[in-house]
Amino acid sequence: MFERFPQANVVGIALSAKMLNELARKDQPWQAHLRLIRGFFLELDLGKSTYDAVISSMALHHWIPGVKLRLYERIRIALRRGGVFVNDDYVTTEQESTERLASFKASCISDRHLQHIDLPLSIQQEQELPQEAGFPAIRLAFRRANTCVFAAVT
Ligand SMILES: C[S@@+](CC[C@H](N)C(=O)[O-])C[C@H]1O[C@@H](n2cnc3c(N)ncnc32)[C@H](O)[C@@H]1O
Repeated sequence: MFERFPQANVVGIALSAKMLNELARKDQPWQAHLRLIRGFFLELDLGKSTYDAVISSMALHHWIPGVKLRLYERIRIALRRGGVFVNDDYVTTEQESTERLASFKASCISDRHLQHIDLPLSIQQEQELPQEAGFPAIRLAFRRANTCVFAAVT
């Protein structure tokens, strides 16, 4: 991000202090442009029309579709007009996604404490959910094996 947009102001959010420390170390030259928040992004106030871009990397494959839908709505609201949402994550087949969801539901674990459970969606679901959340369209910008980068513009 900083190599491409050295003047950007970036807010980095993660639950893991280790991950944030690593980010601070790597991005030391841009320290003045970086604010790190250790928090739970399902609960943090992301604001309204606050950001030009929301970028997630390998962080959103833990949520059931209903929770993810609400997060996508909050991301859309947090973006300025013309802002972009980029989601890099791993996907699975429709069948495996359905099976994982069924076994999760049978486990009765609370859907707000899932960060250690993997519930990847299919490519189709990853494209439908943001549209349901009000993004006009989301495209598959990159794919290598089961890793995909999706991009949507508000
Ligand atoms: C697999 S790591 C990926 C880290 C980094 N984004 C990367 O691509 O190298 C997943 C990250 O997502 C964060 N994460 C997962 N669920 C989260 C949540 N609900 N709120 C905040 N951070 C979360 C974890 O703290 C961790 O830093």
